[in-house]
Amino acid sequence: MDELQRINELKELLRESEYRYYVLDDPNRTDAEYDAMMRELETLEKKHPEAVTADSPTSRVGGHADNTFSPVKHGTPLLSLDNVFSLPELEEFEKRINPDSRDFSYETELKIDGLTVCLIYEDGVLVNAATRGDGYTGEDVTANVRTIRCIPLRLKTMIDRLVVRGEVYMPKASFARLNAEREETGEKTFANPRNAAAGSLRQLDPKITAQRDLAAFFYEIQEADGVTFTSQAEKIVFLRDAGLPVNPLSELCHGIPEVWKVRDRFAELRHTLPYDIDGVVVKLDDVGAQDVLGFTSHAPRWAVAYKFPPEEKETVLKDVVLNVGRTGVVAPTAVLEPVTVAGSLISRATLHNYDFIAEKDLRIGDHVIIYKAGDVIPEILRALPEKRNGSEKAIPVPAVCPSCGGPVIREEGAAAYRCNDIDCPSRLRESLRFFASRDAMDIEGLGPALIDLLLKAGFVKSIADIYTLDAMHLLQLERMGEKSASNLMKAITASKKRGLARFITAMGIPQVGGHTAELIAQRFHSMDELMTAKPEELETIEEVGPIVASSIIRFFAAERNRNVIEKLRTLGVEMTSLSSGPVSGPFTGKTFVLTGTLSGMTRNEAGGEILKRGGKVSGSVSARTSYVVSGADPGSKYEKAVALNVPVLDENAFLTMLKENPLEETADIPAAEESQDPVQGELF
Ligand code: IVH
Repeated sequence: MDELQRINELKELLRESEYRYYVLDDPNRTDAEYDAMMRELETLEKKHPEAVTADSPTSRVGGHADNTFSPVKHGTPLLSLDNVFSLPELEEFEKRINPDSRDFSYETELKIDGLTVCLIYEDGVLVNAATRGDGYTGEDVTANVRTIRCIPLRLKTMIDRLVVRGEVYMPKASFARLNAEREETGEKTFANPRNAAAGSLRQLDPKITAQRDLAAFFYEIQEADGVTFTSQAEKIVFLRDAGLPVNPLSELCHGIPEVWKVRDRFAELRHTLPYDIDGVVVKLDDVGAQDVLGFTSHAPRWAVAYKFPPEEKETVLKDVVLNVGRTGVVAPTAVLEPVTVAGSLISRATLHNYDFIAEKDLRIGDHVIIYKAGDVIPEILRALPEKRNGSEKAIPVPAVCPSCGGPVIREEGAAAYRCNDIDCPSRLRESLRFFASRDAMDIEGLGPALIDLLLKAGFVKSIADIYTLDAMHLLQLERMGEKSASNLMKAITASKKRGLARFITAMGIPQVGGHTAELIAQRFHSMDELMTAKPEELETIEEVGPIVASSIIRFFAAERNRNVIEKLRTLGVEMTSLSSGPVSGPFTGKTFVLTGTLSGMTRNEAGGEILKRGGKVSGSVSARTSYVVSGADPGSKYEKAVALNVPVLDENAFLTMLKENPLEETADIPAAEESQDPVQGELF
């Protein structure tokens, strides 16, 4: 056999070894044998560089093919799935797609908690791998995906073009190892295997990804040249025969009761699996029936994801710490014995207020059950009084403000205790943080640490003092260089022109968030108009009811608040609307609802973009809603949109829409006239 033949033979043998080891988990060679063959192939390929191909087992960690993360447009969109959380919801799904109670079979697949990837094979060779992105355009992660050993660089089946979809994940054991290593070296640990997998897939250097021990399962065929399928189960067999890793725990069920039994089993088993799952995907097996049902704008009608309820864990409530917020509310937080819940280490949980504590009869030293609300925010579900030994201590209500030592009050009917001293250092600190934050005046560089330094130095005693700072002040602060000082001064100056809506937000009026502030600024065109508005005028604004109106009235009734506003005005902070009334533009007549966390902008900023284009932003979804913009971890609004068939845009789709509907050039609209009767008096 000549060397070129041997090269081909080694490629085949090594490929088969990888398949046996990484896909079937049934090695056919020892590690030493495998390594020896790999070295032999490397040596031969050095002698015959022309024989090095993209699908060679030596080329997983490509020296040249660095990641670009450039956009990849998916030929067939990668849709998502509707979720159900209970048997009745699952039965409803069945009723929807099978109103005549025909004999439907469902394929159940584990819902792998990882990241979607889409692979393209041409002539059997892996040519591209992309993330899901917004379902229409993802990012090119080919170089990284090539390092994942269970993913074949060449298929076992000959096919011109095959596009498959699957989930890349990090096994729990690898995750634990990775985090232990990172802790050793002082690097930041990952919160859960999913984040670790995401972080690993987004490495610029594929060599790092290669060390991360990622794996994958494939479950959908996006395109398969010349092949047709009659059932979902057949697709899975096709994927498996092609040499792709498929999850072995899929099952074919006859009817929903059987599906639910599978769910029961995996709800038990999930913690013993070597990888995280967050539910069970239920797919109508019959491809013909799938085709009849088709898709909504974002998901197939023939499949649904059952999601497990949040994981609960027992731990100990060690202490309660108090924090005073900008409105003076004294917020109690539980300090917990650290415990991993739903993949992340939890050591704190909000206790909301003292009603919550009383209702749950929580005591310091109690064993408690915690869970993650919406799988994100840790909460205490209940105490376990049967585990008490008598040493537990009641959680006292605060007698004085933990920050300033002043009196705390509990307003009639309110759940919260409040420090009523406007000069309370905690309140001031929190107000400053809020004022400078991205959703409010967006003063870049003026973060919590710098605010603490300014307070300590005594340079800032009220919000208005931000605008009396100069470089001389700043340069006296620790680690403040000339460049940062000058940047900060620029940012402070720029923040004077954020417009009325932002300014109203930044005031931190209780009950008035960014969205309400936008609506208020559309109705009243200057701070003076707003400050003199009557409750009934305020209530003409959509979403402003008597509670919000009276909160606004109370806020402006406080002399101190009026004083601060006046001072800010004198210092040049703009207090008029950028526009007079609703603008008209490409979104005129369209109503948007925002839900979930957007990564590139705040919801407030997103709302601003919509308003500027003439659209409306509403707080609730109805059949008249034009679009729901859904970020990460959307709330019930998302579910409602799906139920009402309202189009849902994810962040990228929304950004595309903004780009495609640029702002119309408007002539500068003059600021509303200054009030003839400036508010005399004091401000906050
Ligand atoms: S099917 C049109 N099957 O769950 C087909 N998805 O909540 C839609 N996922 O974005 C996907 N395991 O990333 C499907 N066996 C499985 C899955 C699965 C995990 C993920 C996938 C999808 C998300 C939807």
